[in-house]
Order: sequence, then C-alpha cells, then structure tokens
Amino acid sequence: MTAVTARAHPNIALVKYWGKADTALNLPATGSLSMTLDVFPTTTTVTLAPDAAHDEVVLNGAVREGVVRDRVVRFLDIVREMAGSRTAAVVDSVNTVPSAAGLASSASGFAALAAAASRAYGLDLDRTALSRLARRGSGSAARSVIPGFAVWHAGSDEESFAEPLDAPDLAMVIAIVNSEEKAVSSRDAMKRTALTSPFYPAWVSSTTETLSAAVQASRDGDVERLGRITETNALRMHAVIQSCDPPVRYLSPVSVALFDLAESLRADGLPVYATADAGPNVVFLCRPKDADAVAAAARPLAETMIARPGPGVEVLA
Ligand code: DP6
Repeated sequence: MTAVTARAHPNIALVKYWGKADTALNLPATGSLSMTLDVFPTTTTVTLAPDAAHDEVVLNGAVREGVVRDRVVRFLDIVREMAGSRTAAVVDSVNTVPSAAGLASSASGFAALAAAASRAYGLDLDRTALSRLARRGSGSAARSVIPGFAVWHAGSDEESFAEPLDAPDLAMVIAIVNSEEKAVSSRDAMKRTALTSPFYPAWVSSTTETLSAAVQASRDGDVERLGRITETNALRMHAVIQSCDPPVRYLSPVSVALFDLAESLRADGLPVYATADAGPNVVFLCRPKDADAVAAAARPLAETMIARPGPGVEVLA
C-alpha cells in the first residue's frame, strides 16, 4: 500500500493575487508576492486504494462529499493524468488553519496535497513543477511550496510557478477577527470582480507595477517601502472587491480599526503595516523585534498570533 504524507504552511500575500487569466489552468492575471508562515500547518496523507472504485476525502477526521470532495478529486485527476494512472486514493488531511476565514487554508491544503499525491502516484517533481501543480488546486498554493518569501509569476502554464525571493528579516502578527466560514468564497468573489467591477482593469495594471516595486524593495531590504506597498495593495484589493455587483465586503468594523491601529502605531514611530486577505482577519507586517509590541496593541481588538517565515512544503514519510 503506497501512502505518502506531506506538510505545508499557509502564506500571506504582500502583493495580492486577485483575478485569473485562465480558469481551467488557474493562471493569475498578475504575479504576486507572499511570506510562507511557520504556523497553522496542514498535514495530508495520500494512500493509493487500488481496490476502491472512488476516491475518499477526509478533512479533519470527517468524510467530505460535495464541492470540497469534487475539488480534491479534480486535482487527483490532474495528478493521475500526469502519472498515467487510474487508481483511486484516500486523502486524509488535518488542517490547523481556521478554515475559510481568509487565512488561506486552500494554500497549505493544496501545497501539501500536491506533494503527497504526486509522490504517491510515483511522480518525482522538482520544486518548480510542484509549484505549478499546486497552482492547479488553488492559485495561492503555488506560493506555499516555497519557504519564506516567494514570487508567483503570471504567464503561461509553463511560466506560472513560484520561486524564492530575498527579503529583509520580517514577522507577521495575525489578528484573528472571526474564524467562521465566509459568505462568499474568494474563488467566487474573484470571478465576480473580474466580470462586474469597472475598476478591475486598473487593479490588474496597477498590481503589475506594484509587484515590480515590491520585489525591488524586498531585494533592497527596505522594510518601510515594502510595508507601505503591502498596505496600499491590500486596500486596493478590498476596494476592487467592494466595487463589484453585487458588492462583497470582507473587512468588518474591527478589521478597519486594526488598519487604523497600524497607522497610529506608525505615527508613534513603529514601522508596522496592515494587510488582509478575503476575510476580516488582519495581518500586520513588522520587524521581529517589534512583533510583541504590535501584538499587545492589537490584543484589545482581536486574538493575536505571531508568525515568522516558515518552511516550504515537505514530504514527511
Ligand atoms: C485574497 O488562492 O484561494 O488570499 O486560485 O481560486 O483557489 P483560487 O484562489 P485562492 O485566492 C487567494 C486570494 C487572496 C490573495 C492572495 O493570497 O494572494
């Protein structure tokens, strides 16, 4: 019986991925830049089941059906096609990320699944090929293959993978505002934004420029420039999301208060910058030595967790 276990961590984008150039291949409209975290790992075991007629998907101990299972089965079909196999599998995944609360559980989930499934089906993929494969499951998963800071490139199927980026020493303080499932998934909201927001073309063109500036700031080790770019890019993403029809708002009053907190801490001389994914949680970017002070300042508003750059995807056994 072939069983392979892999572990991956979520990542938080400093320059966001919001919009697809190709839905079937899951190619992004723009490149993006992220930090893979050292907290909230997902551990996934893929066991080949030659006698089974169908795949089985178990998440956090519960057998899943419906859309969650379908998405995993579609991903396994891609791996099976690459490997020339028709064998069913059991996927058993334990996820410590608060699911669907905008903390990118699909990123760690599909990065771990890509590594475990490709190995279980006998493929020997290098990191670039693994990042491309993880992208097919969830775009942001391409970046969770990479340790620490990563840039995920836009482009063709061949060109669209993530690779490491030099960056200054940074920490993230995660402020968990609400860990319940969100009303509109990022996948659906992303599609709606591209179809209905009059601002979407400007989001795409400005993010392409923003990414070049962020890569340069990161290579220069310029925390303040990278931080300002991060906060601006996050607010632009939420602006374009709010401008679709019908509108979607992920930020809650507490999220907005946390963005205000970053601004007031900066006014006091502390370089800290806020970002948020498709949910109300806010993530602060700062130097590691300032992380405790940022967490203490945010604590009256939200539960906090300090994260540092974490490992890329790893095959455990
Ligand atoms: C707001 O990677 O979950 O977190 O490719 O459709 O699975 P799919 O989308 P997903 O979207 C992530 C959106 C984001 C921004 C980011 O992580 O860059």
